[in-house]
Amino acid sequence: MTLPQEVKIVEVGPRDGLQNEKQVLDIATKVSLIKKLADVGLQTIETGSFVSPKWVPQMANSGEVYEMLNHNSSIRYPVLVPNVKGFSNALSFKVKEMSCFTAASDTFNQKNINCSVDESLERIKALMDEAKSHNIPVRGYVSCIVGCPYQGDIEPAMVARVTEKLLSMGCYEISLGDTIGVGTPGRISSLIEYLSNYVPKEKLALHLHDTYGQALANIYAGLQSGIRVFDSSVAGLGGCPYAKGASGNVATEDLVYMFNGLNIHTGVDLNKLIHVGDFISKVLGRVNQSKVANALLSE
Ligand code: HMG
Ligand code: MG
Repeated sequence: MTLPQEVKIVEVGPRDGLQNEKQVLDIATKVSLIKKLADVGLQTIETGSFVSPKWVPQMANSGEVYEMLNHNSSIRYPVLVPNVKGFSNALSFKVKEMSCFTAASDTFNQKNINCSVDESLERIKALMDEAKSHNIPVRGYVSCIVGCPYQGDIEPAMVARVTEKLLSMGCYEISLGDTIGVGTPGRISSLIEYLSNYVPKEKLALHLHDTYGQALANIYAGLQSGIRVFDSSVAGLGGCPYAKGASGNVATEDLVYMFNGLNIHTGVDLNKLIHVGDFISKVLGRVNQSKVANALLSE
């Protein structure tokens, strides 16, 4: 397959990244991070989530953060919502785009959102009905597409079932989450081929955590299999609080470096992005997970 001329990057650092940090960042720091990400050319930035603050206190100020962003630009700022309550809370802050989430594993879902996959699909159905009546576009996430921290290997048939269901409910795109980063290129390619028997590839995105250092190789496999939308996280921030041991997403800096090398347009200024990763790593007092950023900053 020939490679595309351009791809879309969905930056998830302010949500997937910061939800997993011990420290709860204040509103001003989060807004500053998101504005810097917007300034480097990222067109879609997931800014937070409307989940229970008892479960994920790091995201409790997502509404206030959202309100302080510049909504006059063409940049999209989706937020994560688990149910109608989250949807309504997000709507009260005039959020224009949302993402719902479930998994291909019942046990992971129980730990993450306190219900089974089928129960979560019922909650999402109610949320989607609300979204349709308010004209809110909703993206869907399916976690544990390859493996689950509790159940082990996941059958592609389960991924296909949940993906199909979310699309039939009206999600405009499904982001396939390798939550614990256990996938390898062969498995990602064969999963995409399998899914393409049920859903159009154009409706799929990849959301790959880099726990085993496989994310870039898996993204390249996804690219060759026809995927054109990739989630990533500045400085490789992230993880899931309910997936023990899961490390961050692929670092946006590393992803952009790879696409630049392939002459695939992302619209992102790599040099500026590296400084944003440096900024947030210093704020959090953590090691920047981007190999590219570390190499270029030490030059
Ligand atoms: P629950 O306790 O089962 O909810 O939590 P409930 O319906 O029984 O309600 C209990 C209380 O929570 C009630 O309040 C509700 O109003 C409140 P009380 O009457 O006790 O005062 N509540 C809420 N509050 C705020 N926002 C809401 C909300 N819903 C109910 N939306 C719930 C269920 C889903 C809320 C909870 O389990 C939760 O918040 N989980 C957090 C999950 C999460 O954020 N995980 C990380 C994101 S997913 C991820 O990272 C994976 C992804 O990146 C892809 C990948 O990598 O694979 C997307
Ligand atoms: Mg994730």
